[in-house]
Amino acid sequence: MLEVNAINQYYGGSHILRDVTLAAPVGECSVVLGRNGVGKTTLLKCLMGILPIKSGEILLNGKDISKMTPEQRVRAGLAYVPQGRDIFSTLTVEENILIGMAKFSQRKASKVPKHLYDIFPVLDEMKHRRGGDLSGGQQQQLAIARALASEPQVLVLDEPTEGIQPSIIKDIGRVIRSLADKGDMAIILVEQFYEFAEELADNYTVLSRGQVVAHGSGCDMAKNNIQELVAI
Ligand SMILES: Nc1ncnc2c1ncn2[C@@H]1O[C@H](COP(=O)(O)OP(=O)(O)O)[C@@H](O)[C@H]1O
Ligand SMILES: [Mg+2]
Repeated sequence: MLEVNAINQYYGGSHILRDVTLAAPVGECSVVLGRNGVGKTTLLKCLMGILPIKSGEILLNGKDISKMTPEQRVRAGLAYVPQGRDIFSTLTVEENILIGMAKFSQRKASKVPKHLYDIFPVLDEMKHRRGGDLSGGQQQQLAIARALASEPQVLVLDEPTEGIQPSIIKDIGRVIRSLADKGDMAIILVEQFYEFAEELADNYTVLSRGQVVAHGSGCDMAKNNIQELVAI
């Protein structure tokens, strides 16, 4: 379980995250919603250690990881699917996935486990193609496979549906649901695509100008008019 307690973050003089608190339990999809520019990506970068926090704590299974480097956090069990995917376009699909296994022994990190290709069969078909040859949706699937390759306890996804065709969005939604239902992973999903988020949310947190303005159970999102809070 990942817990974020009252974290604050600044870019220069601007206060970007203000006492943000949330909990992402194992076996649940925890959705973070909010309009453009409210601090969603900044929050995820703070979780991953790409940006420092000024105050507050980030607890993984009760242990404060907020001073750890990004590499240490990956070793501790966090994995990140960044906004815009950031796959390596000149490396093959297989090489991209193997990068996600860098924390393991050389022996283990030399072969992509079959279950990853079972999750996204298209990546098996295209494993010798260059990442840059894939469609946007396929690249998103690759970025998710690369994150899963590290066998995370916490999977962090930043707008995985952005700019992606509907059929692949459905696939990605099914994968996220089944990963959560397996019960051994906490999932933090940042989304602007409201319907997708509502369908997957076990719990939700809404950010506005760097602050949490609403949170609750996924099943109460409609009743609480959450869509209005995030409509563009
Ligand atoms: N590197 C940066 N330097 C200064 N300001 C930034 C930087 N990155 C993002 N911001 C600002 O921080 C705020 C939050 O950005 P971001 O976390 O990317 O929002 P979101 O992901 O919710 O769209 C925005 O106002 C954005 O302009
Ligand atoms: Mg963002």
